[in-house]
Amino acid sequence: MKKTIFTGFSPNTRAKDMTIATSFLLFPWKLFQWKQGPNQQRAVDLIESYFGDSTNALTYDSGRSALYHALLALDVGEGDEVLVQAFTCMVVINAIRWTGATPVYVDIEKNTLNMDLAKAESACTPKTKVLIIQHTFGLPADIEGLIAVAKKHNVKTIEDCAHSLGARYKGQLTGSFADIGMLSFGGEKVISCVRGGALITKDTTLFDALQKRHDTLSQSTRRVIRQHLLHVVLFPIGKSLYHLGIGKIFLKLLKELHITNKIIYPEEKNGKQVAWYPSQLPNALAALLIHQFPHIEAMNAHRKHIATLYKKQCKETTDIQTETDEHIYLRFTLFVDNPKKIRMIAKKQGVMLGDWYSLVIGPGDVDLDAAKYTKGMCPVAEERASKALNLPTDIHIQDSDVTRILAACNE
Ligand SMILES: Cc1ncc(COP(=O)(O)O)c(C=O)c1O
Repeated sequence: MKKTIFTGFSPNTRAKDMTIATSFLLFPWKLFQWKQGPNQQRAVDLIESYFGDSTNALTYDSGRSALYHALLALDVGEGDEVLVQAFTCMVVINAIRWTGATPVYVDIEKNTLNMDLAKAESACTPKTKVLIIQHTFGLPADIEGLIAVAKKHNVKTIEDCAHSLGARYKGQLTGSFADIGMLSFGGEKVISCVRGGALITKDTTLFDALQKRHDTLSQSTRRVIRQHLLHVVLFPIGKSLYHLGIGKIFLKLLKELHITNKIIYPEEKNGKQVAWYPSQLPNALAALLIHQFPHIEAMNAHRKHIATLYKKQCKETTDIQTETDEHIYLRFTLFVDNPKKIRMIAKKQGVMLGDWYSLVIGPGDVDLDAAKYTKGMCPVAEERASKALNLPTDIHIQDSDVTRILAACNE
């Protein structure tokens, strides 16, 4: 029986990550370094030197918390509007709504899955305070165009680089163009420390405002940190046993018994805030981040390589997300008439395909009313969500897996 191939499922975890997490769980002298310690500053230093050019950085427990703080630093609040693309994640919308502002949905371009420039322009009103530029699946958006629209309307910009860490637009790193760049180090992202995020900015006034808020952040509890560390150690074990059936039960039990954490909590899907964040990035998770950080370029080069193989083996007529040299392919996304059925059939072949985003605001079981999204607002995004299917490109995918994955799709 062949091992299961996954899309997502904490794809960046390798042996060294497991060793680091285990050391924090087992070594007595490390038990006192879970919340605070030198790794927090080291992580900030790494981010700042990666982006260079007088970039200032701050880390958070997650990208969603970072985004929330970015919006607050830009004075977003009650009565303001924030332009955000459809075909995004509910946690982005929650961050906007928690400030009291209204998310205004802008439709996407059919092929890039990024915000449509003309529609962004026409969505601007005197109430618009911020425009969020998302680089979907690692494909840079039309940054210059969107920033020009924002400037014209006196609107601030945030780049949502949850999918695009290391991707370059015209040779410059995404995240470094807007007033503030938001990074995510969640389990399914470019690099991972289970859960984490950061903000970067070159604007010193903005940085001061961000830092003031950051100083007031609470620390994650030991229980939450333990869940994250156990996730690193136990999740790969469950994955390796998945094809035998017991892995699935094992992973389910870990979640049901709250031994490990969830990526997105049920209350978040209904637009509610989770009690334990925003908070600081714990020292123990910063240690995982420091370990993965130097691998950004190699991991992205691997993703690009796997994407090239998919492209070569796909039919000419296959409807895929725009391919460019700038794309880092967090996932290789194509569009089919019945993605749900293909996912089901491929699963029987031991290939778990991705479902980002199977709903216009993902994941698929989100309460769209809570997101203030009404059907018909963004027809292109709705159509793309009804057809999207993602293939894995992560570091565990080998060249030989590509044929197996495509064969499972073709079934
Ligand atoms: C487009 C996008 N932005 C932001 C986020 C938030 O990142 P995090 O999971 O670190 O909170 C996500 C999460 O999946 C996302 O998909």
